[in-house]
Amino acid sequence: MTKLYVTGNKNLNGHVIISGSKNAALPIIFMSILTDKAISIKNVPDLKDINIALRILICLGARVTFEKVLYIDPSLINNFSAPYHLIKEIRASIWILAPLLTRFGKAKIFFPGGCNIGARPIDLHIKYLTQLGAKITIKNDCITASIKGRFKGQYVLMEKISVGATITLISAAVLAEGLTIIDNAAQEPEIVDIAKFLNNLGANITGAGSNKIYVLGVSQLKGNEHKIIPDRIETGTFLVAAAISKGCIICHKTQPQHLEKVLIKLNESGAKISTGKNWIKLDMRETRPQSLNICTKPYPGFPTDMQAQFALLNVVAKGNGSITETIFESRFHYVTELIKMGARIKIQNSTIQCYEIQSLSCAQVFCSDLRASATLILAGCIASGITIVDKIDYLIRGYESFTKKLNQLGADIKMM
Ligand code: UD1
Repeated sequence: MTKLYVTGNKNLNGHVIISGSKNAALPIIFMSILTDKAISIKNVPDLKDINIALRILICLGARVTFEKVLYIDPSLINNFSAPYHLIKEIRASIWILAPLLTRFGKAKIFFPGGCNIGARPIDLHIKYLTQLGAKITIKNDCITASIKGRFKGQYVLMEKISVGATITLISAAVLAEGLTIIDNAAQEPEIVDIAKFLNNLGANITGAGSNKIYVLGVSQLKGNEHKIIPDRIETGTFLVAAAISKGCIICHKTQPQHLEKVLIKLNESGAKISTGKNWIKLDMRETRPQSLNICTKPYPGFPTDMQAQFALLNVVAKGNGSITETIFESRFHYVTELIKMGARIKIQNSTIQCYEIQSLSCAQVFCSDLRASATLILAGCIASGITIVDKIDYLIRGYESFTKKLNQLGADIKMM
């Protein structure tokens, strides 16, 4: 497995272009099954997870080309059974279930894979699809589902806010009979982007971005074009890179309004932040950050996907800070690795306490999930010596050209 050699003591400075959002692109790719007309999608990041999703579509019969723009012709999809080895690779593959059911009245898939950040059940996806009329049986690893006719629009009160289950419900409701109301829905910008994509295809979705989404079923969808929103987590990661390295980074082609809580916390840590319509500048030159107290929450709260990066900020900050994780139960694997580098962190149930230290030093560290990978690489950029970051496979799943972009900002990262 590839390792990175990260030379430390760097200030990270300059301009970076933010890629399209992985978490918006993945469900949109699977939703292409809902139409039989060609669609083209711009700003799709070139990532391993995206390529796996496209390979799943190709196995089902779709024609796909992905160069600068992604073209999908779903008209020839003729298979409702998705391949085991690909479905197991990504969590997002659960989003194929509702589109396959809508198109074929039946589907056969397997339990999805994905990052190791907790149990990550799919019970809510199954429960709400059943509520809308699907019959689903799960035997060992295999999910077999069928539906007579169309999904039936319903009022659904989500017992827990779930991004994934909200997306599954929208997929099922788009071509359902009647109105589906999704109450206590996830409000992430990715959900808004998905609704925009589907409305461009002729769907009737209102309320996306609020906690109540109304989906009035239509009889068919057409083809169209769409441009994926910028990746807010990639943006946040580069802003933290500047904040921890006494640097100054300007993120371009991003959307500041999607990062409100992240910017509030960076500002509280002492960063000078300015924003324009599609850029954010964070200036931390010659300033050591102040530690923060953070609690992750569903959007518009502080994102769990920025939790590890801010733990690193706390580790190198003045004072002691704490981070509480409320979304996933097992998202502190990276802590052991940061401790190897000299961090002083204590895990107390779902909270970590970070205590002030003077600096980090190099070590050989192992990545446990996507955001942990980015965090450990950033830690290597500011530690003394050469940090070896091992098991970086997770990184290429979710950050487009991450090491190249960091090297352009002054990092020294080599792949071996
Ligand atoms: C998505 C994002 C991920 C992000 C997360 C929360 C993608 C590909 N991934 O993941 O980057 O960290 O949102 O913002 O978009 N849950 C259940 N049963 C279910 C589904 C979820 O109990 O059927 C629980 C989860 O275990 C978790 C919570 O609900 O504790 C929220 O998970 P959810 O919002 O669904 O996350 P994902 O969609 O998996």
